[in-house]
Amino acid sequence: MSNEITSFSPGSGRRTSPRAHVASDAASVDLSGTWRFHFSARPDLAAHGAEAIDFDDSGWDSIDLPGHWVLQGRDDWGRPAYTNVQYPFPVDVPNVPDENPTGDHRLAFDVSEGFIPDGGRVLLRFGGVESLCIASLNGVEVGVVRGSRLAQELDVTAELRPGPNVLHLRVHQWSAHSYLEDQDQWWLPGVFREVELLARPASGIDDLWLRADFDPQTGEGAIIPELTAGAGAWPITISVAALDLAVTLASPEEVTALKVGAVDPWSADRPALYDVEVSNAVETRSLRLGFRRVEIVDHEWLVNGTKLRLRGVNRHEFDPEHGRVFNRERAREGLLLMKQHNINAIRTAHYPSHPDLLELTDELGFWVIDECDLETHGFVFDAWQDNPTDDVRWRDAYLDRVERFFERDKNHASVICWSLGNEAGIGSNSEAMAAWLHRRDPERPVHYEPDYDGTHTDLVSRMYATVEEMADMSRGTGTHEFGTPGRNAVLAQRPMILCEYAHAMGNGAGALSVYEEAFNTLPQWHGGFVWEWRDHGLLQKTASGQQFNAYGGDFGEEVHDGSFVCDGMVLSDGTPTPMLAEFAAVASPIKLTMTAGSLQVENWRHDGDTSDLAFFVVDEHDGHVVSEVELDVAHVMPAGGFGAVELPEPSTPEQGEAWRTVRAEFAHPTDWAPQGHVLAWSQVRTHAVSTPRLQTPSKVRPTLTDGVITLGPAAFDPRTGDLTSLNSLDVAGPRLDVWRAPTENDSLCDFRSYVDVEPIASRGFGAPGPSSAAQWRTAGLDRLQRRVLAVDVTDGEVRVLHRFAAAASRQSILLELVWRMCGEELTLDADAQPSAGWTGTWPRIGLHFVLPADVGRVDWFGTGPFENYPDSRRAARVGRFSSDLEGLVVNYAVPQESGHREGLRELTMNDIGLSVRTQEIAGELPGFQLRKHDAHDVAAAAHPHGLPESWKSHLVIDAAVHGLGSRSCGPDVRPEHQLRPSAAQWSLRFGV
Ligand code: GAL
Repeated sequence: MSNEITSFSPGSGRRTSPRAHVASDAASVDLSGTWRFHFSARPDLAAHGAEAIDFDDSGWDSIDLPGHWVLQGRDDWGRPAYTNVQYPFPVDVPNVPDENPTGDHRLAFDVSEGFIPDGGRVLLRFGGVESLCIASLNGVEVGVVRGSRLAQELDVTAELRPGPNVLHLRVHQWSAHSYLEDQDQWWLPGVFREVELLARPASGIDDLWLRADFDPQTGEGAIIPELTAGAGAWPITISVAALDLAVTLASPEEVTALKVGAVDPWSADRPALYDVEVSNAVETRSLRLGFRRVEIVDHEWLVNGTKLRLRGVNRHEFDPEHGRVFNRERAREGLLLMKQHNINAIRTAHYPSHPDLLELTDELGFWVIDECDLETHGFVFDAWQDNPTDDVRWRDAYLDRVERFFERDKNHASVICWSLGNEAGIGSNSEAMAAWLHRRDPERPVHYEPDYDGTHTDLVSRMYATVEEMADMSRGTGTHEFGTPGRNAVLAQRPMILCEYAHAMGNGAGALSVYEEAFNTLPQWHGGFVWEWRDHGLLQKTASGQQFNAYGGDFGEEVHDGSFVCDGMVLSDGTPTPMLAEFAAVASPIKLTMTAGSLQVENWRHDGDTSDLAFFVVDEHDGHVVSEVELDVAHVMPAGGFGAVELPEPSTPEQGEAWRTVRAEFAHPTDWAPQGHVLAWSQVRTHAVSTPRLQTPSKVRPTLTDGVITLGPAAFDPRTGDLTSLNSLDVAGPRLDVWRAPTENDSLCDFRSYVDVEPIASRGFGAPGPSSAAQWRTAGLDRLQRRVLAVDVTDGEVRVLHRFAAAASRQSILLELVWRMCGEELTLDADAQPSAGWTGTWPRIGLHFVLPADVGRVDWFGTGPFENYPDSRRAARVGRFSSDLEGLVVNYAVPQESGHREGLRELTMNDIGLSVRTQEIAGELPGFQLRKHDAHDVAAAAHPHGLPESWKSHLVIDAAVHGLGSRSCGPDVRPEHQLRPSAAQWSLRFGV
């Protein structure tokens, strides 16, 4: 095996010092495109002599770069593999398997005579290659590049010649440095970012760092330049046309801070940028600067003097077809979607993104935690024994990584923090990285979550902490689970963030508003970053051609972590999940609180008053709009301000419910949203006349003839009491359902349970316990057997009594169903009564009806538009909604519970002409779920294409459901959102 593969070295050959990624008018050539490619399963099988100019590659395949070779549709080029924490190869530092997929890439290209600058240099720049790249130009090895998601430039001046050239890149999937790149994501080898040739003029401006400071006291800006240029490069002029500034610096000695007078400061809310040129006789470098000051004052992290309010996401670079290959347009679409959902911050988990991303975050406005390419999580299994982070053999590699990532990104206004990496333990190397950053950048804080004791970083950071732990940390007390006892008292003097929270896997996470409350009330907390933005399912096709999003195990990996790679607020193809709407509602910087007569507006923006907003009041009676008026909000709330607005008197309906909704929307289009985009809304019920229970006796009596009980439009089986048809419509049931297809939050249990130990009593820690799904299965909720106790046909009603219990269990639930005709309507009053002795939680308690498949368009008066659950209902409003059957559930990568909507008043299935109306009982309305498959089919499918053909649809009217929680990687469902075994009642009216 080549000793390059096992080397600790950060790289070798003609490597040049890292520098900022800043545009230049000097010539460059992007070598992206079609290359010759040869795949070998092992390095020793790789093409011998492939670096030679005259090597015959005519028998090779071709590949499009940038690209991962495992995503080119070729099964014989290796396959993607997914692991979270575990290494996919034996832990045997610095060795990696002999079976080390190797890609030889060759490109023949021409450069013009004029491209190579006289007396200057040519650099070969790699944006990202996973994981080890040995580059040869015209037969000469020019360098070994390591650090997969870091840029590296090699000086190829001596080898590049005018006319034809041949570049050969040998890329090994595994190298010693794979031990430093154990992020929770797909292992995807290849040259996945651009390879470019950069002409560097003899007297060019090689590097620059313009710190653009803003003084919040005076409103004035300053540019603090750092210029790297040879003796012949001077004078150099820095000009900012919009500020009428052009300063020529004759020599390095003249470089000094430049006061630029009053400027518009940069913030994520108002990302004011200034075009800047740095030029000399031979070169012009151009960039966009944002003036802002980042500082920590006591426990507050400030930008421009204002405390940050971070409502962020962790963003991986991911595309379902192209993996980590960057696409600027798609990235921009993703960022716009974030902005439209009140996301104002990004952590570049867990490596620097493509440099263009930071241009977009500067432009659109995001607070960015820029993270270095580093994770050694696989060492956690042996208590971090031999962890590279504390092994001096890796020192140079760690320092090289931090230097390369910092230098590339240092100019960006949006970057307000440097993160050393993720889950790599701590040790002398992380200390050295932090020290390097502290010396290099006097301004921006250093983040590294595993620095639990805060020995070398500036922010206190946690992932998936509970709100109780957050409160303890804020008070400086608590057990300090991960660090030294007593240390919380010191840490409480610093700013705190959750670098990860609200694990967005499958349906969930719940309890976003619980976190929002903690962020808003605990002084040290500045917010957090949801894990994570997007599912990483890879688009694949089944043998029969059905597309699906593949996850761990779908490529036959020996070890893998299944669907844990699909845990985003948007699905792999970018479709938002309901959690995104929930996030938008919870995290909106405009908070509206109202009663029928008054509205309180709070402006939590970092920057910007409310003059860009229009406010509307909408009154609805029984879900129908009766008035919509624009509010005259003369009172403009500055950032951080609040105020009350009088609302007009709502009108009172004769019958039914009245709801009032106030919404704040953009009065004009913005850079990221159209006019009318709703930033915040609030709703209250202004009037409710509870409809009297229908008592109208009907003349219709049940009859039993020919083995069928008939009551009005309904037919029942006299043996079971089950409905068999409604007006000749195939309708069966209802059957009591206390089972749901587990969500991934129901199924996973690395985090502790709140079933037997409350969070409040355990400072958020709960106690070890089975997953909800396991507990439900143990209780037999998925296999309740039914015994018919009675089917009585009396003068006015059909009365049915069923007993439900699981094999081997003494606990039971009695379900009484009473069918009557009231006036023209068929009604059902149902009561479920659990026996004593049930423990734990239930996922739901519902009545399950089986309906024909083609229910057509579904209209409902209830909550919507999206699914909602007890701990995820801030985005749900009361109104009238409509959807087709498919649209009622979310197509999660793993089929699971989906589509519940609380507060159902009326449901109409148009094509079958069936409607169900509900009545409040003890102030509660049921919710509903309508989908093509029942919970058993859904629970059994690993992928959407694994769901069987369905000839029916399934309506469950739930009296109550269990919350979502985020126990797939975070807290369990909180007690206030749990469904404990309890009695339930329904009162339904059917229209056919
Ligand atoms: C964190 C980790 C992330 C991701 C997440 C779970 O521990 O930093 O990379 O694995 O858990 O999805």
